[in-house]
Amino acid sequence: MNIDDMSEKLREKLSHKRYKHTMGVLEMARRLAERYGADVSKVELSALLHDCGKDMDSRELLEYVRSNRVELDEIEAKQLELAHGVIGAHLARAEFGVDDTEVLSAIRFHTTGKTDMTLVEKIVYLADFIEEGRKYPGVQLLRELSFEDLDSAILLSFDNTIKHVISQKKILHTRTVEARNFILEQMENMRGAN
Ligand SMILES: [Fe+2]
Ligand SMILES: [Fe+2]
Repeated sequence: MNIDDMSEKLREKLSHKRYKHTMGVLEMARRLAERYGADVSKVELSALLHDCGKDMDSRELLEYVRSNRVELDEIEAKQLELAHGVIGAHLARAEFGVDDTEVLSAIRFHTTGKTDMTLVEKIVYLADFIEEGRKYPGVQLLRELSFEDLDSAILLSFDNTIKHVISQKKILHTRTVEARNFILEQMENMRGAN
């Protein structure tokens, strides 16, 4: 399936709002890929499919998990909105024929982040937060930072997410905390080496 076929399939599968968001993420991810010299085709594929598992209600979601034996971790099982990454990666392989492990990983971890992310994973994670349709306090600052210093922007988006999840009194995924500590430490080590 090529990118155009996938877009068409997504247009049918997703709500109008989600499709528009997806196109915004695709556009932003392309710009970041160009800025940082990432593999454009991997970035496009991951950005396009990142939310392909999102427009399901909790009943459909649980049914999909059960019938396809998708393994949710303990936190994803409790906080189902976090599960659309792992489900999306499953769908990307099963329904869209994606077999690139880095693309599947970028889809899988776009909801929480993870330690030691690749350039493709970082770009997709960030593009999701800063696509042109996103409106929240601080988004413009994060957009500008994203084109100046990718890792600082990732760190800021982890910090924003962690604060937001806490303010919503929701369960915070430990993977996001690990990801945040990992990149902070890596940046400090790099600063020390210079
Ligand atoms: Fe998502
Ligand atoms: Fe998204």
